[in-house]
Amino acid sequence: MGRFRIHTEIKCHDDITSRINSFSKERIWIVADSFLEKSSLLNEYIQRFSSKNTVEIYTNIIPDPPLSKVIEGIKVYNTFSPTVILAIGGGSAIDTAKLIAYYAAKLEGTARPFFAAIPTTSGTGSEVTSFAVVTDTETNTKDSVVDDSISPDEAWLDERFVMSCPDKVTANSGMDALTHAIEALVANHADAFTDALSEYAVKMIFALLPKCYHKTATADEWHELLAASSMAGMAFQNAGLGISHAISHQLGAVFHIPHGLANALLLPEAIAFNMQDETACHKYADLARKLGFANFSDNNLTAAGKLLSAVKALSNEVGCSIKLKDLSISNDEIVKNLPVIVSKTMKDFTFPGNPRTVSTEDIVRIVLNISE
Ligand SMILES: NC(=O)c1ccc[n+]([C@@H]2O[C@H](COP(=O)([O-])OP(=O)(O)OC[C@H]3O[C@@H](n4cnc5c(N)ncnc54)[C@H](O)[C@@H]3O)[C@@H](O)[C@H]2O)c1
Ligand SMILES: [Fe+2]
Repeated sequence: MGRFRIHTEIKCHDDITSRINSFSKERIWIVADSFLEKSSLLNEYIQRFSSKNTVEIYTNIIPDPPLSKVIEGIKVYNTFSPTVILAIGGGSAIDTAKLIAYYAAKLEGTARPFFAAIPTTSGTGSEVTSFAVVTDTETNTKDSVVDDSISPDEAWLDERFVMSCPDKVTANSGMDALTHAIEALVANHADAFTDALSEYAVKMIFALLPKCYHKTATADEWHELLAASSMAGMAFQNAGLGISHAISHQLGAVFHIPHGLANALLLPEAIAFNMQDETACHKYADLARKLGFANFSDNNLTAAGKLLSAVKALSNEVGCSIKLKDLSISNDEIVKNLPVIVSKTMKDFTFPGNPRTVSTEDIVRIVLNISE
């Protein structure tokens, strides 16, 4: 067993209120996704802060944060000099805040202020990870910053923020969380701790993502899906990811596909590819049996195939079972960009986590399989 580490403390319900009440004479900088600008829920949070605090809101966030937005944010950070940062939003807002705080502290040679992340998607798991993903718009590349000091101190799981998600965002981010859990399960640094988190997260996502997508879930079920997404984040933070993420980062950077949707297209390909690895196949099969997708009499290959079918069915149910051509990405465009997609996939920070060796031809085949 390797090292298992989580820096972030999880807070829910009354613990969040207690923490809000504990702030006094702080300079609180709220870095919020722009959809929250007129949110009554965010306003409710702000109203709860004691008037002894100074509160400022920053909403200059765009999906798949580019470096330019991080640099703009650092200037505002330096002017305000926060003692507390609250990052509220999807992975893009949380990553933007993480990167601003990380670089600003590094440039000033100071410690980062207290940092809490409040996810509004169930989702990226960014609220518990030491990663942040940034897009270089000049080279169309997604790069990552990986550093323990980037992990949020606390993650506040308030389901009321995710309940406002448009169906598509619920579906895409849910498929991202599923991909985190399934890739982490078979990744090279998986161990008993990460397996437990992955398996529980997969179970909850299968049970609750359709309900949340169809808006029939209770508040408690939204909360459980949010918790499952954080657990998937803890799993991949320690176990690693794999070929689905290594390619999805490139598709996001080149074609601007939502991150979760790119993973929804790629996850079935990743499972089909990794099933050829004996250990990965065994783990997929074991999970399929535990979740009731396969019988205990099924051999590993058959049982793993049933997990693959269940993933495809879930993706279909939440409207993610599409091809790149359905996103108006032509075959010509794909072929033109293949060399760069292949070379950057192999350099992606998630690539080494994949359990089976991946060749150039494998990447080409996978990308063409999801094209049309
Ligand atoms: N740091 C990590 O560990 C990590 C892991 C995976 C992905 N990521 C990164 O996270 C980003 C994707 O994050 P995401 O999938 O959460 O999407 P996102 O943050 O890009 O948000 C997608 C869209 O949904 C909107 N939105 C978000 N929450 C909403 C809500 N509750 N109600 C209404 N609208 C809402 C946003 O305004 C945006 O338009 C990518 O840049 C990806 O690379 C980071
Ligand atoms: Fe992801």
